[in-house]
Amino acid sequence: MERTLSIVKPDGVRKNVVGEVIGRFEKSGLNVAALKLISLSKEEAEGFYAVHKARPFFGSLTEFMSSGPVAVMVLTGDGAIKKVRDIMGATDPKNAAPGTIRKDFADSIESNIVHGSDGPDTAAFEIGYFFSALEILR
Ligand code: CMP
Repeated sequence: MERTLSIVKPDGVRKNVVGEVIGRFEKSGLNVAALKLISLSKEEAEGFYAVHKARPFFGSLTEFMSSGPVAVMVLTGDGAIKKVRDIMGATDPKNAAPGTIRKDFADSIESNIVHGSDGPDTAAFEIGYFFSALEILR
């Protein structure tokens, strides 16, 4: 059993696809173990994406991520990290496979609807960034 963190980004909330995104995860057999809607400040978005601090898109990315509410969730299941990434599709919707969330809903590499942890260490950091142990179903 593996845990991962996913975020429906501000564009996904604005497009009203929160339920659609969660539904796709649930249909693949993943379980929602924690879920909340929150609005990130610019500083909170910067802390979450600290690993990308040196990238040219950091300012724009953190501006976007603090532009409206997001739905953050912990998903659990066998191979949850890879499963979520497969369901999301490639970061850039232009490269995303048909039937993936980003192919179906994303407008650009930045406004790409959804985030998913890219490995076990990242998942542990990202889950802890948003949820305490008591908030996650076991
Ligand atoms: P995400 O999976 O949340 O991880 C980092 C995010 O940075 C990524 O999705 C994109 O939204 C964004 N990103 C990655 N590469 C670029 C880029 N070249 N230009 C703008 N945004 C990017």
